[in-house]
Amino acid sequence: MQGRELRGELDAFLAETEQDLVAFRRDLHSHPELAFAEYRTTQRIAERLTAAGLVPSVLPRGTGLICDVGRGDGPTVALRADIDALPLQDEKELPYRSTVPGSCHACGHDVHTTVLLGTSLFLAQQAAAGLLPGRVRLIFQPAEELPGGALEVMAQGGISGVDRIFGLHCDPRVDVGQIGLKPGPITSACDKLVIRVSGPGGHTARPHLTADLVFALAKILTELPAALSRRVDPRSSLSLVWGRVSAGSAANAIPDDGVAEGTVRCLDENAWHAAPDLIKSLLESVAGAYGVEATMDYTRGVPPVVNDEVSVEMLAEAAERALGASAVVPTQQSLGGEDFAWYLESIPGAFARLGTRSPESGVTYDIHQGTFDVDERAIAMGVRLMATTALTALFEGTRLPAADEITSALA
Ligand code: NI
Repeated sequence: MQGRELRGELDAFLAETEQDLVAFRRDLHSHPELAFAEYRTTQRIAERLTAAGLVPSVLPRGTGLICDVGRGDGPTVALRADIDALPLQDEKELPYRSTVPGSCHACGHDVHTTVLLGTSLFLAQQAAAGLLPGRVRLIFQPAEELPGGALEVMAQGGISGVDRIFGLHCDPRVDVGQIGLKPGPITSACDKLVIRVSGPGGHTARPHLTADLVFALAKILTELPAALSRRVDPRSSLSLVWGRVSAGSAANAIPDDGVAEGTVRCLDENAWHAAPDLIKSLLESVAGAYGVEATMDYTRGVPPVVNDEVSVEMLAEAAERALGASAVVPTQQSLGGEDFAWYLESIPGAFARLGTRSPESGVTYDIHQGTFDVDERAIAMGVRLMATTALTALFEGTRLPAADEITSALA
């Protein structure tokens, strides 16, 4: 399909549905639901998809759903939106503010959900008109903030048979109408580490007859980050920072246990995968030198989202076709986590940043703030982007290779 033709169809679709989509977003915004409790949200999405002739399949826990559009004999492209809210007080004074105390769509997942709903309705029209050269899997994912919803979707076969996956996130630092793109890593990993040390304990007069646990713990606290800085590529920015340490109760008694807790942040996926084993071996060697026992509890967060280059090109092409030549802007890797990363460990895909700042307002919000809000024109922009991206990826997946590509493949 020609770009102009698709753009015209999206114009016509949005002229009819944009106001309705904004109302849908406001309804979700005033009824936020936390991770794995998104029952009402799931029901609202399912109602709208069913009314459009689609057949959504709610995940076994009753929150989140998956729905296929189009034929099964071509390529399959997945589009994912997260649907959960944050445990945070809504501090806005607007008619659509949260009606649930301590719960707020302060990360824009209500916008992501609405964008994917609009995209679903448009793609359903395209499929009915025989214009989809494959299948689009719509993933309305629960519990991104936990995180863990992506793993739940994958455990239910949500991405089996999917060739490529796309998602987006509101970016309040990017103007509405613009799309932030970056190949390679775009978010970061953040894990939690708890270390416990133990020894026989004893009198501070005779450290040589016991194990000097406080001294050993102090060595662990300083040696682990120091050794990591020499054992891991500095470009991966792996950083272990302690947030809590505790041992002992008297000035003249060596305690028999102690604990340290911290976080491990990392920009690089390979370094992230290697981190637990490396930290464990460093811990054992430092603790062993002082005769104390040390154990480690390492809680994985999410890996970094690592965007596939070809998928980013598809997003860029779609953004230009749908939103104009100047719509794509570069974006940086953030230190935040995003569980879309789990999908990209199995299949190629890319994650975009959807501009939500209103240039006229002069206000720049941040996500995870109780005052966070978006310029709602971003909803239509998101629909244009996601629908065009899905069609671009499907057509690229089915098209015959061009003559020059065959020549270069044979060369
Ligand atoms: Ni988020």
